[in-house]
Amino acid sequence: MKQLNWAILGPGGIASEFATAVRQADGRIYAVGSRNLDRARAFAEKHQIEKAFGNYDEMLKDPRIDVVYLSTPHSNHYEYLLKCLENNKHVLCEKAITVSSDQLNPVIQLAKEKNLIVAEAMTIYHMPLYRKLKDIIDSGKIGRVKMIHVSFGSLKPYDVNSRFFNMNLAGGALLDIGTYALSFTRYFLASQPDEILTTVKPFETGVDEQSGIILKNPDNEMAVITLTMRAKLPKRGIVTGDKGYITVDNFPRADRAAITYPDGSVETIKAGETTKAMVYEFNDMNAMIQGERSDMALPLSAGVMAIMTDVRKQWGIRYPFE
Ligand SMILES: NC(=O)c1ccc[n+]([C@@H]2O[C@H](COP(=O)([O-])OP(=O)(O)OC[C@H]3O[C@@H](n4cnc5c(N)ncnc54)[C@H](OP(=O)(O)O)[C@@H]3O)[C@@H](O)[C@H]2O)c1
Repeated sequence: MKQLNWAILGPGGIASEFATAVRQADGRIYAVGSRNLDRARAFAEKHQIEKAFGNYDEMLKDPRIDVVYLSTPHSNHYEYLLKCLENNKHVLCEKAITVSSDQLNPVIQLAKEKNLIVAEAMTIYHMPLYRKLKDIIDSGKIGRVKMIHVSFGSLKPYDVNSRFFNMNLAGGALLDIGTYALSFTRYFLASQPDEILTTVKPFETGVDEQSGIILKNPDNEMAVITLTMRAKLPKRGIVTGDKGYITVDNFPRADRAAITYPDGSVETIKAGETTKAMVYEFNDMNAMIQGERSDMALPLSAGVMAIMTDVRKQWGIRYPFE
């Protein structure tokens, strides 16, 4: 496989984790771009990166860059996804890939026209465990899928200025953590939901603090999702069929799951390693760019974004920049 030149755009917390994963995978980060040259230089030094740019647009003009890891807050993913593609770069974009389908659809269209890969850094689509669970479900082991139940609650400190509660940065539970819960759900649903019920309790800044979402698809599979940003809930996904159910705890980066059968017996399933979550994303992206793996993840991201767009429309929550 050819060694690709990666660039990081937005050197924050998750970008640092990604840079460590790239080193672990023997990959090459050639450049880093920040809005501030000193921050870019400090990041470059820490992660042994050849070039540091103090301006995102300037970095994107560098023809040596093949692929960009976009790790700014999701409020500006749309703008930079388009800029990356216009500059002929593939993009691995942090979640949530955009804030709505109105933003994601033109990105998908442009990537297609330019024959470039765009993928969401959604760990669920890249962890080996999920492929194994899908095979298990396809084999009929838990019977016909009937219901999916996902909970995710994160106790964020009370801070009206943090990105989690900031309307200008597209804060709120749905786009920050709901995107994981819905990606888990969509991964296992046989088809896109066509019935969506939901209710929300907004935070005082106007973002969604906690919500419940109920989905049903044309295959009569249902899902119930509970989210909150001001209380802990287990990060737990359950897929139940008429012959047993699968429980995945800490589901975003899970490497194990349990199948419980009607007689109460439990089977443990293991695949991959939680600590390599970002290595899997990096490897999948390289393989997709080199045509060694088909791009199955973007249609799932588009399906999740369609659900989130519908849900937010029902709530009447619009960000100031929309
Ligand atoms: N996959 C995961 O497990 C995971 C975990 C955490 C977060 N995320 C996602 O990754 C993205 C970044 O999250 P993070 O926790 O790394 O955030 P962060 O630490 O705040 O870093 C974001 C970076 O984006 C840049 N940026 C550009 N415009 C900005 C703006 N208006 N406000 C703040 N920063 C801005 C900043 O870099 P410069 O100022 O230096 O240019 C900053 O360092 C989010 O979309 C988040 O949802 C994913």
